[in-house]
Amino acid sequence: MTNKKPISVPGKNYYAWRYKEHTKTKHDILQCYLEKWFVILGKYYPVNYFDCFGGCGIYTFDGVTFNPGSPILAAQAWLKRGNKANDLRMICIEKKKANLENLKKVFADYLPTMRTPYFIQDDFDHSVNAILDDIDKSDKVLAPSFFFVDPFGFTLKYSTIKRIMNVEKSEVFLNFMYDSVQRHLTNPNVNNCMDELFGCKQWKDIANCSSLKKEQAIIGFYRDQLKEIANFVIPFRVCYTDRNRTIYYLIHLTNNLKGASIMKSCVAETNNGVLSYLGKQKDQSTFFDKSSYKEEDLKILLMELLFPNSMTFNEIVTQLIDSTPYLEKEIRTVLKHLRNEGIVNKTSVSSKQESAIKDDDILTLI
Ligand SMILES: C[S@@+](CC[C@H](N)C(=O)[O-])C[C@H]1O[C@@H](n2cnc3c(N)ncnc32)[C@H](O)[C@@H]1O
Repeated sequence: MTNKKPISVPGKNYYAWRYKEHTKTKHDILQCYLEKWFVILGKYYPVNYFDCFGGCGIYTFDGVTFNPGSPILAAQAWLKRGNKANDLRMICIEKKKANLENLKKVFADYLPTMRTPYFIQDDFDHSVNAILDDIDKSDKVLAPSFFFVDPFGFTLKYSTIKRIMNVEKSEVFLNFMYDSVQRHLTNPNVNNCMDELFGCKQWKDIANCSSLKKEQAIIGFYRDQLKEIANFVIPFRVCYTDRNRTIYYLIHLTNNLKGASIMKSCVAETNNGVLSYLGKQKDQSTFFDKSSYKEEDLKILLMELLFPNSMTFNEIVTQLIDSTPYLEKEIRTVLKHLRNEGIVNKTSVSSKQESAIKDDDILTLI
């Protein structure tokens, strides 16, 4: 699937992989989100972080400076923001022995005082199902868990993602390898793999659609499938750095409104306000077809939504967060403008300040 060549790291007994700009973007988003997720969830609970495809642990652009991979970034996010009164359990799964041994060395080098993660040399699917089987057999419940699912290819089972999402307060950040998927969609040798990936056989209906509509059809279909198992599903498009083409979609699955909202803000924050990584191109996202919000469009949308019934702020955000390009803060700003224009009225429930709009505040069209 991939030809990652090991690059030696001067003075160290481990190797690195070549860093690509889109991989750095993926890492920036992950780090941004985990720094917030650890604060929110770690306040009340011990938390688990599963790095399901751990990798070798370290990357380099130039062979001179080195950047840690996802397991180390996650641990650093915990050290920076996690509530030390609670516990973080890290589980790093990696199929290849050489990569796992390398990852262990990088981890020990970067984080010598941090509790060693559970390093598991195994297939992700087998390993996660075995862990969930054990939990099911005991009378324990899994602590809130974040699963980073970052494979090279598309050997990923919908049934396993569904099982993870059935666990209360669990979230998945998944790398859907769109370019590989679209290339293999008409390859009869991988029919079973596709059935497992999409969790059904209906993907065949889109396998032969015209190239212009193909991307929307595939990502739209996969998202619809994921919406069956998670309340909020947001795909973010990631392009090759040097080509005007999608390489993969990073897809966030959560049952928590704030989680969806925060992840979306992290993507925007990491990509200069755009909800996708476009490499060196200037075109726009194909899932969200706008790269930045248009106040007038959002005003109309909000007025339509509030007619004829009042809604709370959270109900409005729930309706819009994973189906439109708007961020929570943009929705709030435009509602404030509508208030100032005398079009919308707010009844305070959550907010203390007159000018604020928060969670259970009720918005009514005047
Ligand atoms: C894209 S890399 C992961 C990179 C890592 N998440 C990061 O950002 O630093 C994918 C890794 O998954 C490993 N892998 C491949 N198939 C696997 C499987 N079935 N289960 C677990 N790991 C697997 C590969 O050896 C590779 O190291």
